[in-house]
Amino acid sequence: MKNLIGINDFSIEELKELVKVGCDISSNPSKYMDEMKGRVMATLFFEPSTRTKFSFESAMLRLGGRLISLSEVKNSSVSKGESLKDTVRTVGCYSDIVVMRHPNEGAPRLAIETLDVPLINAGDGGHEHPTQTLTDLLTIYSEMGRLDDLNIALVGDLKYGRTVHSLVEAMSKFNNNTFFFVSPKELELPEYIQNSLKGGCFFNERSLEKVLPKVDVVYMTRIQRERFDDMNTYERLKDVYILDEEKMKLAREDAIILHPLPRVNEITEGVDKDPRAKYFKQVKNGMYIRMALIMKLIREVDEIVEDKEYPVIYSSCPNPKCITNHQYVERVAFEQRSIKNRNYACRYCGKIVSF
Ligand code: CP
Repeated sequence: MKNLIGINDFSIEELKELVKVGCDISSNPSKYMDEMKGRVMATLFFEPSTRTKFSFESAMLRLGGRLISLSEVKNSSVSKGESLKDTVRTVGCYSDIVVMRHPNEGAPRLAIETLDVPLINAGDGGHEHPTQTLTDLLTIYSEMGRLDDLNIALVGDLKYGRTVHSLVEAMSKFNNNTFFFVSPKELELPEYIQNSLKGGCFFNERSLEKVLPKVDVVYMTRIQRERFDDMNTYERLKDVYILDEEKMKLAREDAIILHPLPRVNEITEGVDKDPRAKYFKQVKNGMYIRMALIMKLIREVDEIVEDKEYPVIYSSCPNPKCITNHQYVERVAFEQRSIKNRNYACRYCGKIVSF
């Protein structure tokens, strides 16, 4: 069963396919309105969210599915001391897919240890936020027409900004992308991520003004107040990069400005009317790509379940060494192994045969 915990859970082919389906949904949303009819999605948010939670919920409703939702920890048995694993496992008994945001890094990996339905990581602490990355990929592709050969500036809190971690990992899988990591020394992209990049080249920079004229994509981020141990450091760094109308004059005419949102001070409202500002389009794309993701993960489970539950057929096993050809067995059962071709496996020896 497939989960989405980190962006590396998906191959480049899967990422491209999701972007393709996301594009189709955004052009023909009504085509998909019954795709998840009768299905239930659970959203478990142990941390605040506006976009991720509502976009997932809207995505499932637009696919014809339904929701159960936890947004206040105090309203669940977590407040009585129930473990994360037990909570998620329980919620999985009532739903076909679980979406979880949690303040602790790695929480989704623990949660899937006992979960029987797919889990989507909607953000785990300062670690990963893979569905924001899917959103960003769809936006970059629909605005630029490609995911290769791009100069990309990532600006602000690159240490704690989980959206940047996942986006950089994803974009490094495509060809010939160049990254400019613009941050103060204290908030540089963690070394383990810099070392794990699959391709492209990157530069650590301090000056936004210097980088703006060079790039196709400007990805602004918020300084993540809630992740700082020392508030004095936060106060010193919080307004380090502010993109305003004056600085926009330095950006290329065909550049796009993205931001995962929420913003605090890092993009002034004056920039919103600039045609290069795409962050509210990005918000809408988040819903379309999450529709594509929900369909993908639930359909993949359907394939496995159909395999398991497909009615068995009865015959004799062609494997001469099979126990059924040496001992009396009333009926030799074959189970379908693949719904794509007509392969069956003997329940006893596992011999694959075609009927
Ligand atoms: N981009 C994003 O994750 O926003 P929320 O925190 O509002 O979900």
